[in-house]
Amino acid sequence: MRLFIAIEIPDNLKAALGGLRVDIPGARWVPADQIHLTMAFLGDVEETVVEKLNGALSRIHVPEFKLCLCGIGCFPGRQRPRVLWIGVEPQPHLDELAARVRTAVVACGIPQEERPFSAHITLARLKLSSSEQLEAFLERYKNIKYPAFMVEKFILYQSKLTQQGAVHILTKDFQLTAAEAK
Ligand code: 2AM
Repeated sequence: MRLFIAIEIPDNLKAALGGLRVDIPGARWVPADQIHLTMAFLGDVEETVVEKLNGALSRIHVPEFKLCLCGIGCFPGRQRPRVLWIGVEPQPHLDELAARVRTAVVACGIPQEERPFSAHITLARLKLSSSEQLEAFLERYKNIKYPAFMVEKFILYQSKLTQQGAVHILTKDFQLTAAEAK
């Protein structure tokens, strides 16, 4: 099973992000319904390991938190853009969650990249060097900011590769710890 662990984006925000789509040469846009925030990419995982992984992920206790999408940019940089992304406002609970998720993944024998977690939402993958259209898009949305939303769970997704592209299937969701009632 090809797996990844991500945070779901509310439908209204997915629709708003999907609506940003314009014609940029060499851009392959993520379909609006597939937009998500990846915390860990696992690649192919044996069924027997998935059970262990579910156990490790369910032992993660991090409080629910608010997330605000803002800012735009390219990885690895504007000179050689490969990924066009929307950023998130710094959120220590998100960093803590991603760190714990990655530790749990590694503990199950699934290697993770050494690169530190850099929270982002991929809008498009780019296969050409920068263009006027890309520069105009980055300029137009440089101050983009959406209303914050609550993150109450994280999700283990299966990514099935089909001729029509990847299909994401929710395998299991994991609730975060509810904030105490005041
Ligand atoms: P991204 O959001 O940073 O682009 C599901 O395929 C998710 O896993 C993608 O959204 C992508 O994260 C990440 N992903 C896919 N293939 C990957 C790979 N080979 N290495 C690292 N991350 C990958």
